[in-house]
Amino acid sequence: MTNRTQEYGKHKTITRSRSMPNFETPPIEPMQIRFNFCTSAVQPEGPVLTRRMSALNGLFAREDLRATEASGADPTVYSVVSSPVPEIARELPQSITTIRPGTVGGEFYMTKGHQHPDPQGEIYLGLGGVGGLLMFDGQRSVWIDMAEGVIGYIPPGWAHRSVNTGAEDYRFLAVYPGSAGHDYSWVLEHGMGQRAFSASTGHVLTPYSATSA
Ligand code: F6R
Ligand code: ZN
Repeated sequence: MTNRTQEYGKHKTITRSRSMPNFETPPIEPMQIRFNFCTSAVQPEGPVLTRRMSALNGLFAREDLRATEASGADPTVYSVVSSPVPEIARELPQSITTIRPGTVGGEFYMTKGHQHPDPQGEIYLGLGGVGGLLMFDGQRSVWIDMAEGVIGYIPPGWAHRSVNTGAEDYRFLAVYPGSAGHDYSWVLEHGMGQRAFSASTGHVLTPYSATSA
């Protein structure tokens, strides 16, 4: 059997039984977390993040149009409601992201996108609306259509961004290792390989350098 003290490095373990190690830190209690499908609220609630257009500089192909919107109405593009499970090693934090419907120069509203500096996987579960999970490993770009009930798997090392391709809110649950972290500068430097624009057929994917569909 694996030695737990070795497996978890410097974190000291107190072995209560062979199958239920009791870590010295953190003292997170088992908990029930409820999601309200009408309001997107999480109970008990952790941090809530709202990203407006003004926070998304440098991400849309038509930065000029984004800047104009940001200096005017500055609409909310997406929000992230987290459970109280903290982003620390060995925990599994969860969050619900809600992306509003909309476009900037025809490009669908989307999240900033990030890499996990500690390259660890993540799962997304679609809760409502329609969208896409765009992943990029620096060379290849992969798109997964997302909707209620669809699980998207993000392997370690793939930058990921979510896009709302519909006319309603697109919502999904994310579950990720607490030590993963979020590196936003990687996407600003390397892009995401593709962009998602509105089209008569729904959405069309273009090379990242394209400024329209
Ligand atoms: C966590 C994760 C999601 C995103 C959220 C917002 O690792 O992938 O919870 O953090 O969808 O997207 P970003 O972080 O790119 O603004
Ligand atoms: Zn992530």
